[in-house]
This record gives sequence, C-alpha cells and structure tokens, in this order.
Amino acid sequence: MKESADPPPIRPVPQQIGGFVHYPGWLDAPEQAALRDDLRGVVAAAPLFAPVTPSGKAMSVRMTSAGRFGWVSDRRGYRYSETHPNGRPWPAIPARVLDIWQAVAGTDRSPDCCLINFYDDRAKMGLHQDRDEADFTQPVVSISLGDDALFRIGATTRGGPTQSLWLRSGDVLVMGGAARLRFHGIDRIARGTSLLLPNGGRLNLTLRVVT
Ligand code: SIN
Ligand code: MN
Repeated sequence: MKESADPPPIRPVPQQIGGFVHYPGWLDAPEQAALRDDLRGVVAAAPLFAPVTPSGKAMSVRMTSAGRFGWVSDRRGYRYSETHPNGRPWPAIPARVLDIWQAVAGTDRSPDCCLINFYDDRAKMGLHQDRDEADFTQPVVSISLGDDALFRIGATTRGGPTQSLWLRSGDVLVMGGAARLRFHGIDRIARGTSLLLPNGGRLNLTLRVVT
C-alpha cells in the first residue's frame, strides 16, 4: 500500500483570555522556520522602516506590511496606505499566513493587510485599540515569532482593568467578537527566549480586514 503523506500537525486547544482566543504553539518549529523564511522575502521587497507618531516621537518597533494595504505612521498621522513609504505597493501576503487566517479567523473574508512589527529587546507597544478598519465584526489575527513578549489586554475603554499573558514563538491570538475593540499592547520582550531569529527579537504579524 502507498505510504500516506505526513499526518497533519496536532493543533493546540484554544484558550480564552479576556475574550481573545489564544492558541499557544499553533505553529511547530518547522512551520515557524518556514514562515520566518517567507517573511525574509517580504522584508526584502518592503524593508522594515522606523515609524514616528504624529507628534514626531520615534516608535520603538520597526514595521512593514504585506497585502493591499499596509499600516503607516508619520507626521501626517496613522493610517492604512496602499504604498510603502518608499512609494511602492506592498508585496502579497504569503500563502502560509493566509492558511493560518483561514484556520482560525472564522470568517469568509480574507485579510487585506498583514502588518509586520519587529521588536528588539527594548521595544514595546503602548496600549491601543485597532479601530481604523471599516468592519469590527472582522477579527484581527496575531501571529508571534521569535522572543517571548508580555502582552497586556485591557478593557474596551481606556483605563480599565488589565491582564497579561506571554506570547511565545508560534502562538496565534484571535482578537474578535465582543473583544475586538479591547485595548492591548506589549510591555516587554524577553531577550534570548527563542533561537528562531538569528539576531534575536520578535516578529509579530497582525492580519486585518481593512475595508
Ligand atoms: C499590535 O497590536 O499591532 C501588535 C501586537 C503584538 O505585537 O503582539
Ligand atoms: Mn493592535
């Protein structure tokens, strides 16, 4: 009898936290390495850039995007843009990334933005809401690669109670449903907790339906 193909990977049981759905270790080590290699292609076509806030303050993350829209921040404001700051369109979202969306997002729509944030061990992201998308019934799906990150979840209003969890390499988090507009951010990166990225740090992908 012909040998069957490799068995499908065993996926983790989702865990609810603050209305978000956390899949710890959704990607196994070979899948993480393959995704990292896909992202090298994206970053070669659309280099990471250092954004500033509209008030001119340097952000500690570096970012780029894939898809029809990318996220940009500069003195003109925060916004989705069809072009990289270098004027070129963004590269396509890798198929491997779209497969993750399809498996966890629970919607027929496809993401039209994959924001890629790179955190070195000093980078963080303040509590914020993702609310520049047209349809809040569509989730935001986050994929983490590289060093561990302490992720904080707040309420849907600023100043509410918060809770934290560590996001580790290969984790997927779905921010949707009633929790879609919860504040969230990254307090710190734990240096040296992953060997996936040769120079350390963390990559986070957030997939969004913009229109
Ligand atoms: C974001 O909210 O855009 C990024 C979250 C993360 O880095 O996990
Ligand atoms: Mn966000």
